[in-house]
Amino acid sequence: MRILVSGGAGYIGSHTTLQLIAAGHDAVIADDFSRSKRSVIPRLEALAARPIEVRVVDLTDRAATDALLESAGFDAVIHFAGLKAVGESVSKPLDYYRVNLGSTLSLLAAMARQGVPSIVFSSSATVYGEHAPVPMEEDFPTSATNPYGWTKVMQEQVLRDAAVADPSLRVALLRYFNPVGAHRSGTIGEDPSGIPNNLMPLLAQVAVGRRDKLLIYGDDYPTPDGTGRRDYLHVEDLAAGHVAALDRIAGSATQVSTWNLGTGTPTSVKEMVDAFSRACGHELSVEVAPRRSGDIAESYADPSRAEAELGWRATRTIDEMCADTWRWQSNNPDGYPV
Ligand code: UD1
Repeated sequence: MRILVSGGAGYIGSHTTLQLIAAGHDAVIADDFSRSKRSVIPRLEALAARPIEVRVVDLTDRAATDALLESAGFDAVIHFAGLKAVGESVSKPLDYYRVNLGSTLSLLAAMARQGVPSIVFSSSATVYGEHAPVPMEEDFPTSATNPYGWTKVMQEQVLRDAAVADPSLRVALLRYFNPVGAHRSGTIGEDPSGIPNNLMPLLAQVAVGRRDKLLIYGDDYPTPDGTGRRDYLHVEDLAAGHVAALDRIAGSATQVSTWNLGTGTPTSVKEMVDAFSRACGHELSVEVAPRRSGDIAESYADPSRAEAELGWRATRTIDEMCADTWRWQSNNPDGYPV
């Protein structure tokens, strides 16, 4: 298939692009490079051992998105592009609604015009809200606690409504748990702009000396060691989930499929700190701090639907996730150059 990968220069998009190419697909990256760096592209081309077509497009621009789809004969879209920092979404909600909803609306309109039948969407376990029991199942009700989360809930709804109106449309809603890790080569990985919000990039920056210490947000949760537990999955397993979902929905009788992508096994903050210390070979400085507002004690997937319907399972271990993150971070202490 010829596949448009929106946000293909970003963390999950770049790893998925490589796997699409390895699976024999033709992947075209569309990115505005607002939160990614151009130097990822030659690194991807080196890993893929072939040139990769890149279009610099702002997907909130309807005319530009129409032109992109008109020109290229796509069979499917994988839609990663979007803003994803929870704290920033609280201070700049309108940017989050404009960019995240706007890009999805332009893509769907352009897909309808060109007859592109399939879209795989980057959703998040954040759509289960703050009161969901664990493990989380796809049929649970959705809600959110911040504008970023609401954009995911709303984009899922937009995609479902578009499918009702167009019986030829096939949609996969992929609810990611906590993606971490990097490609084994250590040449591509997660490079958040500004101060990271998430645990793994913060741990990696402490390990490499860019930050003094990690603040552990709360050790009084009702969990075995008192710290929050999450379902971390390797970005390479996550990328494989996209390839499987794309194959599954093409020509499927089901119009909208929702799949959790996680391991089903939670790991605590303290366990992650220990695993990362093993990977980098030295102790990491940590300090217990108050809980972070909006955090929940535990979040982990029931991944059985993805296993049954996609034949997909996350297999890489926490130690592999930390070792691969460390290889990337130690080879690239300041992330991508430009
Ligand atoms: C966060 C977002 C979530 C988003 C996801 C992916 C919040 C409240 N939630 O999820 O909406 O979908 O990222 O981008 O921001 N931790 C520390 N110290 C730190 C950072 C994190 O102890 O400096 C802890 C957290 O309290 C949590 C765990 O590490 O228990 C994982 O945190 P994080 O990586 O931010 O992911 P989520 O909170 O699951």
